[in-house]
Amino acid sequence: MRLSGSALFICFLILGITACKDKSREIPLKEIDNVNEIPLMEDYRPQFHFTPKEKWMNDPNGLVYNKGIYHLFYQYYPEDIVWGPMHWGHAISKDMVFWEHRPIALYPDEKGLIFSGSAVVDKENTSGFGTPENPPLVAIFTYHNMEGEKSGELDFQTQGIAYSLDNGENWEKYNGNPVIDNPGIKDFRDPKVFWHQASERWIMVLVAGDRAQFYNSKDLKSWEFMSEFGKEHGAHGGVWECPDLFPLKVDGDGAEKWVLIISINPGAPNGGSGTQYFIGDFDGTTFTTSQQDAKWIDWGTDNYAGVTYNEVPDDTRLFIGWMSNWSYARDTPTKQWRSAMTLPRTLTLRSFGDEILLANYPIDGLDAILRKEEARNLSIPAMGTDSIQYNHLNQGEVRFTTEAKNFNLSFSNDKNEKVILTLDGTEKIFTLDRTKSGKTDFQADFGSIVQKMPVQDLPEQENEFRILIDWSSIEIFINKGQYVMTAQIFPNENFNELKMVNSSDSVMTINNLEVSKAESVWR
Ligand code: FRU
Repeated sequence: MRLSGSALFICFLILGITACKDKSREIPLKEIDNVNEIPLMEDYRPQFHFTPKEKWMNDPNGLVYNKGIYHLFYQYYPEDIVWGPMHWGHAISKDMVFWEHRPIALYPDEKGLIFSGSAVVDKENTSGFGTPENPPLVAIFTYHNMEGEKSGELDFQTQGIAYSLDNGENWEKYNGNPVIDNPGIKDFRDPKVFWHQASERWIMVLVAGDRAQFYNSKDLKSWEFMSEFGKEHGAHGGVWECPDLFPLKVDGDGAEKWVLIISINPGAPNGGSGTQYFIGDFDGTTFTTSQQDAKWIDWGTDNYAGVTYNEVPDDTRLFIGWMSNWSYARDTPTKQWRSAMTLPRTLTLRSFGDEILLANYPIDGLDAILRKEEARNLSIPAMGTDSIQYNHLNQGEVRFTTEAKNFNLSFSNDKNEKVILTLDGTEKIFTLDRTKSGKTDFQADFGSIVQKMPVQDLPEQENEFRILIDWSSIEIFINKGQYVMTAQIFPNENFNELKMVNSSDSVMTINNLEVSKAESVWR
């Protein structure tokens, strides 16, 4: 855990007993029906990524689609811009591009803080919380009991549930909570639940130390342990967190495989927090895989605790991550709020020779806010340089295709602050250098390394490079999400130049270079 027991206890004291009462009826967050209350000129405020209007946010929670609405719940501390006693904040969207902030959904109570978890539509009303005509939304979350943690016992994290009969606006906690007691494991949390049609029951995956555990239930209230995964697999440099499990067809119409997502902190390839995944099979009881080593969903430092939506039609898998890293999440130089979510991304399984990778790429709906300029083609001579000046680089997108394998792109401002992206086709490495990107010294790890991503399966032919910058973040998608990096940046001024350097001894052809301004989603 990031907070020591004593620090948590101090938070607890400061908040006082009121925070531990269910105060959802007493102090609702100021209702915001028009998100344009977010000040446009506020330093570093993303304009097309989700942020809370104010205060601290971490993991996405309870991602579920119901009646035309994408719900985004999230770890939220409404009283400060650092982590504190956790609530579930709430936002809704029809398209995952424009969001509307809603009142806090779940408040801490005497059983604990509300840590991460998931939400399902209980269509058959198996829980009995609703009716067949009005099936409930059920949230499954971790209770983190701070007094329990302080007492030195290990059993302070348990699993609880709550339900809503009005599509997520108001929530009642189940009076039989917790639904899963702690078996004596210190880190025992982050339940992801989904309906498993083949066995006609609910399946839960949660994390227990550096393992995943699987449970089943007929009614979401009574749970049976089934199996464990992970001892011999993947990265173990830290605690496993925020698991997810879902099927996808390889290349869209091939064999069905199951993907197990596991966040880990610390232990990510570029330091601190990161998200690994395993591709294998799930028979309703056990997850198996021949994959030994971790694969990473995103090689940048700032995509953590990401999970996918339940109930999206057509087996579409939509993912959102928290765009930060526990190494420095509390220190980033924003004032009114802290942290954003990644762009929503569609997940697919794609094969590259014998290798299968989980690709992630921005949802198509994002195109609605991209004001595309006319595409142009460029030829850069061997070892040559070209550059374009553009005012909206901080709030927009650059994309092009190229066969070139040795080049770098540098986004910079008049203060010569820059982010440098380099493809080294000889070493088959892509790097992201934010060491001179502006404010970096707020925490020692933030600007200390050049982030590296091995790209050994990048096809020889022409590939798309797509880069989205939104004031304090950069997201890079290579070959439609085969390789991805996400990182926060804090330049002191707008980036207004993109320099492209051909570091090879042949001409570099850049096709369909499009520079787009992204419209603000905060109308
Ligand atoms: C991941 C995490 C979860 C936990 C939550 C607490 O970032 O540590 O494991 O439920 O944050 O806010």
